[in-house]
Amino acid sequence: MALLTYQRAAGLAGITLFIFLLLGYTTYNTRSADTIPFSYEKQHSAPTVSNPHSGASYSSSYTSPGSAENWQFEPARDAHNYGLSPEQCDAAFPDMWAELDRAVAHRKKVGIITPADVKIGWKIDGIIRAMIYDRQLFILNARGARRRDYRQRTIAVLQSIQRAISAYPGEIPNIEFSFVVDDGAYFAVYENNTSATTWALTREPHDQNLWLMPDFGFYSWEGPAGEYTALLRAIEEDEIPFDEKDKRAIWRGAKSPAGPVQVRTDLLKVSKGKSWADIEEIEWGGDSEPKNLVPMSKHCRYMFPVHTEGHTYSGRLKYLLNCHSLTVIHKLHWGENFHHLLIPSGPNQNFIQVERDFSDMHWKMEYYLQHQDEARRIADNSIKTFRDRYLTPAAQACYWRKMFQAWREVSFEPSYYMTQEEYEKEQEEEKQKEREAKLKELQEEEAEAAGKELEKGKERAKDAKTRSDATGTNTALRSSSDKKIPRGMPYETYLLLESYEESPWYDS
Ligand SMILES: *[C@@H]1O[C@H](CO)[C@@H](O)[C@H](O)[C@H]1NC(C)=O
Ligand SMILES: *[C@@H]1O[C@H](CO)[C@@H](O)[C@H](O)[C@H]1NC(C)=O
Repeated sequence: MALLTYQRAAGLAGITLFIFLLLGYTTYNTRSADTIPFSYEKQHSAPTVSNPHSGASYSSSYTSPGSAENWQFEPARDAHNYGLSPEQCDAAFPDMWAELDRAVAHRKKVGIITPADVKIGWKIDGIIRAMIYDRQLFILNARGARRRDYRQRTIAVLQSIQRAISAYPGEIPNIEFSFVVDDGAYFAVYENNTSATTWALTREPHDQNLWLMPDFGFYSWEGPAGEYTALLRAIEEDEIPFDEKDKRAIWRGAKSPAGPVQVRTDLLKVSKGKSWADIEEIEWGGDSEPKNLVPMSKHCRYMFPVHTEGHTYSGRLKYLLNCHSLTVIHKLHWGENFHHLLIPSGPNQNFIQVERDFSDMHWKMEYYLQHQDEARRIADNSIKTFRDRYLTPAAQACYWRKMFQAWREVSFEPSYYMTQEEYEKEQEEEKQKEREAKLKELQEEEAEAAGKELEKGKERAKDAKTRSDATGTNTALRSSSDKKIPRGMPYETYLLLESYEESPWYDS
């Protein structure tokens, strides 16, 4: 059954690829690759608006739809507007771009991103190479994105990008990029490569080459949160007046998502038997859901939701920060695209920061329980900053478009077509890389067995070479030498694939 499904999927991919190439052969036309004139830097020259009273022209007496003049972000009206103009994005979310500014500055220092940098051969799985061209999203390649969770994350990221493009009528730069849906971008890499440039969900402070994209959880996270706007609605419905909240700290989680995670163990230890704590480990594995499970939106009924990192970052923080509560967060190591907005002290304090071992948790809880006015001020700051501004779907759509621009400023204009020769070279490179990696794994595991595999691998490589030479010759006979092939598979086609194969491009 599994095999049948696989064969069917593979067959479908093959057919799609065939049709796709066929279209490529018949519909190409050459087009010069114009440089897109745009600047990621803020425009310093304000657009000239003629005086409405001068009677100059009819249209000038109206503020254009995307203008930020006399416009203010109102969450009730704008939180789900995915198509705010760049001026509105800047006006509504002035402190949103710190991660992009950092990444751009780094690139300006070390040199701009080249086509070689966006190849994905360095990562074993969970990576996708894509392109936006003339406002259309294309998939160029994918490696190990078929695992159920990776597939869901991939679709969530792509769909968020698609939404940010299609909701905005203005200019979107042509760009080529890769992104990783693995928890850690540099987990499961070949040759210990922890310096590749890619878009990632999270990064460690020293990872200067990673560009933080909005988390897939801002679109949908099956299981813990579901679709983001549905969760926001549930939170709104479950929200209660601050004074009526359960005045305890709430946390539910697995102690060890993958190996020992010290912060969670420490939290359980520190809070054990305390009157201020409703903190419990969840043990999965039974037939039914664990009894002590608390749905995400119900965390908002507590005054002190607690956040902990897991294997890397933990995607729950953005949900907890939507509560009108005081989120308790240990000092974080893994960053997301909004973490710089967390303010631990001062008049704009918007959460409670504790040590990584939670050693100061007890006295901080006692302090805020006794200083409810201060607690309330922090909770008010939190919803002002997070729920009603930077964690709105509108803000994340703005971030995506700003990211396209920022990336384009320090990278290259991708080409829409490739030649037959380039196509074959790339395919062969990819396959060779995969073969080498598999052989290497085998070698490490079992030297003797690997020896035989190596021979087989060499034969296979020779076969493949012969095959590709043959195809090359055929193509040369069939077509004139300047045939061009579109490099990308439209995102819509990719979605329609029964895509549990390694890469949408390979049919074997
Ligand atoms: C990768 O790192 C591991 C552990 O640090 C080391 O044993 C191995 O030799 C490294 N491999 C390469 C190709 O550098
Ligand atoms: C890591 O991968 C990137 C992208 O393919 C490449 O540009 C870079 O040279 C690689 N670095 C190392 C140390 O292998």
